[in-house]
Amino acid sequence: MQEGGQMVEYHNPVMLRECIEGLAIKPEGIYVDVTFGGGGHSREILKNLNANGRLLAFDQDADAQNNIPNDDRLTFIDQNFRYLKNNCRLQGAMPVDGILADLGVSSHQFDQPERGFSIRFDADLDMRMDQGTTLTAKQVINTYTEEDLHKIFGIYGEIKNAKTLAKTICTARLNAAIETVAELKEAIAKQTPRGKENKYLAQVFQALRIEVNQELEALREFLEQSVEVLKPGGRLVVMSYHSLEDRLVKNFIATGKFRGEVEKDFFGNPIKPLEAVTRKALTAAEEEIRLNNRARSAKLRIAEKK
Ligand SMILES: C[S@@+](CC[C@H](N)C(=O)[O-])C[C@H]1O[C@@H](n2cnc3c(N)ncnc32)[C@H](O)[C@@H]1O
Repeated sequence: MQEGGQMVEYHNPVMLRECIEGLAIKPEGIYVDVTFGGGGHSREILKNLNANGRLLAFDQDADAQNNIPNDDRLTFIDQNFRYLKNNCRLQGAMPVDGILADLGVSSHQFDQPERGFSIRFDADLDMRMDQGTTLTAKQVINTYTEEDLHKIFGIYGEIKNAKTLAKTICTARLNAAIETVAELKEAIAKQTPRGKENKYLAQVFQALRIEVNQELEALREFLEQSVEVLKPGGRLVVMSYHSLEDRLVKNFIATGKFRGEVEKDFFGNPIKPLEAVTRKALTAAEEEIRLNNRARSAKLRIAEKK
């Protein structure tokens, strides 16, 4: 893509070496990249596979399909990764040797003004990763109850004045629907802390994006299915960019559940489907963060199916 005469990168893959090492790729193995995006991680996986290896790549955003390399070891699946298991079965790919998830939105999605993900541009409040779905940020802002907006901003955005924010939006929308990024910023200007505008608006936008794309529900369903799809000894590598996602991944790896106690067998031994390969989440090296700001918040967790 051209911008001002320069090539603009679709997405710069984060912690590429660490993700590939985490997958411990067997050259003839079957791998799944559930967040293809610009294909940076997928291309690196393909480099590590021989002619018998196979890669399934998911992305729910049609734009990602422009990045599919011409390689007959790759099968692209234009679906949400919450349908991981059915698609792997349909493709005759079960069980698999490794699964990679690089969660959230790509730089491309952020950088396309009309997608409505970024506070940098004015556009319709859209924020759908999959443009075939119906729920948009405009609908969330204009039709959700005050209580639901309060919950979304509080939980997904971790916003302290979420209650007042929800009330302000509901009052503003009585006059006229809030349809664009600029209209939303204007409507909540009084609630936006001075000097911290960008951070606050980023939290508001994060909350809306998570709701519009049902990101946490999809992640839970994906994690549960991943253990059914993996071979014993197969690797699960998940990179997240905010604490809500990372907490789900961490708990699931530790206990096989999202909350509550680990299940125990008759002898009192914990029953959990995965074993963490690294005790703590890995983070990007200083040098990578210097070159790619997105890497700053990345948390990478690696687990092995028992
Ligand atoms: C952070 S980017 C991945 C970048 C990729 N690893 C690369 O190197 O270019 C996340 C991508 O996953 C897609 N995505 C996010 N959630 C998804 C889901 N639930 N199902 C399918 N694709 C999803 C987004 O559309 C986006 O293209």
